[in-house]
Amino acid sequence: MPPRFLLGPLFFVALTVAGCGEPALSPEAERGRQVYLAQCTACHATDPAKPGPVGPPLKGSSRELLEAKVLRATYPPGYRPKRPTAIMPAQPQVARDIPALAAYLQ
Ligand code: HEC
Repeated sequence: MPPRFLLGPLFFVALTVAGCGEPALSPEAERGRQVYLAQCTACHATDPAKPGPVGPPLKGSSRELLEAKVLRATYPPGYRPKRPTAIMPAQPQVARDIPALAAYLQ
């Protein structure tokens, strides 16, 4: 047992980590969140609904869009990119996690 004076802060941290009432994510979306936080938030915002320091918001990105942009640094045919630039390098290290990222960002 931790000393009593630690219980308050610990409880607060637990609540913060639990997301304070946000709907629980499916295991796949939760995995996508971890990948997103580890691989994407150098440029995209921690909250995917907001613009990041370098990259645009990604909330609602389809699996097709993620595959094209993240694996090949292109866009699906007919897609209108949010930015005209081509700054983002492909991120092939997340190839296996595209479905999880799509589940998190939907
Ligand atoms: C080095 C910075 C950087 C990193 C890291 C990065 N991005 Fe990006 N991303 C950008 C920028 C900048 C754009 C805007 C287009 C451009 O300039 O390439 C973008 C655009 C995108 C788009 C297209 C958005 C749209 O609708 O037009 C998607 C999807 C995307 N990023 C997903 C990701 C994912 C998923 C990751 C993590 C695996 C990631 N990015 C990591 C910088 C980054």
